[in-house]
Amino acid sequence: MKILLLGSGGRESALAHKISSSARCERLWIAPGNAGTAAYGDNVAMSPLDFDAIKAFVESHGVDMIVVGNEDPLVAGIYDYFEEHPVLVVGPSRAAAALEGSKDFAKAFMSRHGIPTAAYRTFTADTLEEGCHYLATLNPPYVLKADGLAAGKGVLIEPTLEQACRSLSDMLGGQFGKASESVVVEEFLSGIECSVFVLTDGAGSYRILPVAKDYKRVGEGDTGLNTGGMGAVSPVPFADDAFMAKVEERIVRPTIKGLLDEGLTYRGFIFLGLISCEGEPKVIEYNVRMGDPETEVVMPRLRSDLVDLLAGAARGSLGDIPAEHDPRAAATVIAVSGGYPGSYPKGLEITGELHPAASTVYHAGTATDADGRLVTAGGRVLAVTSYGDTLAEALAASYASLDDIHFDGKYARRDIGHEFI
Ligand code: AMP
Ligand code: GLY
Repeated sequence: MKILLLGSGGRESALAHKISSSARCERLWIAPGNAGTAAYGDNVAMSPLDFDAIKAFVESHGVDMIVVGNEDPLVAGIYDYFEEHPVLVVGPSRAAAALEGSKDFAKAFMSRHGIPTAAYRTFTADTLEEGCHYLATLNPPYVLKADGLAAGKGVLIEPTLEQACRSLSDMLGGQFGKASESVVVEEFLSGIECSVFVLTDGAGSYRILPVAKDYKRVGEGDTGLNTGGMGAVSPVPFADDAFMAKVEERIVRPTIKGLLDEGLTYRGFIFLGLISCEGEPKVIEYNVRMGDPETEVVMPRLRSDLVDLLAGAARGSLGDIPAEHDPRAAATVIAVSGGYPGSYPKGLEITGELHPAASTVYHAGTATDADGRLVTAGGRVLAVTSYGDTLAEALAASYASLDDIHFDGKYARRDIGHEFI
């Protein structure tokens, strides 16, 4: 198959690596890709949101399948755009992508289908006062979520009622632009989080991929600002067979059935952001794509052919295509630019061992400069993934490899997976 992968981060590097290892992959392009994805296919300077350019490329290059890495093209309707076109698209329709694009839509979907999640109500500027009254019925801390996509920054957790009311007013007043014209106020859940990925074919079949946990805060001990993710591990010790059986029964099956019953076409990855509340799984959020950096541990732990799975999902016939899990543990640690998630410099040279024997180095924010040097080009620069018989071994291998890679200001959390070792 000739495959076009859209995106440019560590997630797309891991997808590209896995796709390119398949005997079924005849040709792979990554748009726009990064300095590392060029090792797995050909980078194409094209925006994932420029559907007309993508269509022209698909036609001129005979692309058979489009794989979408990030949510923006999905929420903008890339699946529908190509609906009448012979190319396969892995992903949800625009209507189904609202599971990520609108928190209110996702919460209402879960309540229609009895899927466990935090109690909530949605407010707009006209109902601000009711929103403050609703907040007063909840226990602190208070969770406020901009309804629309806000680049991962649209969730506020406020310690006091007074602050929560003020934030609700600010959000509804335009703090996140259109994204916060509606705000979901919900009950705070305490527990430990994990990410479950499901690939579905829109016809009732699905496969559950290896479970992962990511580390979102920039600082050790889960402190400091939220980031795109500083590292990930798989498997997740608390997400054992008993827990995963509950996830499948109470969350995965009703989600797949709910999509079918509501006529929401979905042929792609469903990302369940879950929290275990004393062993009982609840949904924190849906995303309509793979996670980053979770993909950098999930793909290495998927033994089966990814191209078979993707094509099966996109054709609406996963049938009995297997999704076997590798029994080994995998861990990834992200090297970020100094200053991230605040402002940070770009264009700093990256040196050292980028092809260590013990690890895979996935590029995230990298580029090749005019002199052909490998340089930093983003906040999250590299994801260093390793296998191990245990998470401790996998993490030790990733840290050892990371220590042999250098750029000015390089920072990584040293405690990824800490609670499991
Ligand atoms: P989201 O963008 O919905 O994933 O929210 C970002 C983060 O906020 C999540 O990963 C959780 O850590 C936290 N969060 C969101 N909703 C809740 C909730 N109801 N209770 C506790 N924490 C939450
Ligand atoms: N790692 C969380 C995400 O991709 O949204």
